Amino acid sequence: MRFNDQIVWVTGASSGIGEALAYAFSREGAKLILSGRREAELERVKAACATAPENILVLPLDLVQFDSLPEKAKQAAARFGRVDVLVNNGGISQRSLVAETKLEVDLAVMNTNYFGTIALTKAVLPQMLARRSGHIVVISSLMGYLDTPLRSAYAASKHALHGYFDCLRSEVWEQNVKVTLVCPGYISTDISLNALTADGSKYAQMDANQAKGLSAEACAMQTLNAIATGKEEVIIGGKEVLAVYAKRFLPRLYSRVVRKIKL
Ligand SMILES: NC(=O)c1ccc[n+]([C@@H]2O[C@H](COP(=O)([O-])OP(=O)(O)OC[C@H]3O[C@@H](n4cnc5c(N)ncnc54)[C@H](OP(=O)(O)O)[C@@H]3O)[C@@H](O)[C@H]2O)c1
Repeated sequence: MRFNDQIVWVTGASSGIGEALAYAFSREGAKLILSGRREAELERVKAACATAPENILVLPLDLVQFDSLPEKAKQAAARFGRVDVLVNNGGISQRSLVAETKLEVDLAVMNTNYFGTIALTKAVLPQMLARRSGHIVVISSLMGYLDTPLRSAYAASKHALHGYFDCLRSEVWEQNVKVTLVCPGYISTDISLNALTADGSKYAQMDANQAKGLSAEACAMQTLNAIATGKEEVIIGGKEVLAVYAKRFLPRLYSRVVRKIKL
């Protein structure tokens, strides 16, 4: 029960990694705030959590409605008095070539993954600084380190999170606010089904890599371990995580291999 009576806010809690995080935190005694756009799915997740229903707030939000997020943070604080852990997990991916991708798609990915995440963080941070206690968690990706064809906006959004939240960590450590970046590889979720294509429509196909990836439950458990032990960064996945080291230590070889990727 490492998170007993901790107030944990998970975005993207309506499916995939966020849903698994909700269950994992609830098994460890946390009180939960569950966010995402699909209220009915959030209610489904709430009903399946181990936490008593009165200790779970379903708080629907759209990360790209930046102006609404301070009010959402007020509602969260009004219900539980504070937020101990904010898990910025909500996000979307992309499957399209730069040359074919509408700028609107780049904006949608950046607005959701990057600007939505920092907007919600800014809404929650002041009360953590005032209490001199809190933990900001960001679900990034191996694509926060790597590059492949067909993931330009997604990789850009995740790289941007690393720059931003590494800076934040260096600013808030004296006020006892921790920052953890979580970098999963292939996790078996609906991410590819929900990914945007060049014209903004959904890709709507399950990628083979995701289908045979690590389970969302295993990813969630490793994420909780990283949060509980105050890790600054954690990489989670199968053998694809070796690509991070290939990119760093054998960059030319990495480039030659990666340009052959077709999906
Ligand atoms: N699966 C992987 O292989 C993998 C690998 C590395 C990183 N990740 C990251 O893990 C996170 C979760 O993805 P997933 O794999 O669990 O995929 P998923 O099943 O598609 O879940 C994405 C979640 O994000 C929420 N979301 C999307 N747009 C939103 C918006 N505008 N406002 C609020 N919530 C929004 C969705 O909820 P609603 O639709 O209800 O809004 C959903 O709960 C993402 O940040 C993703 O980049 C995934």
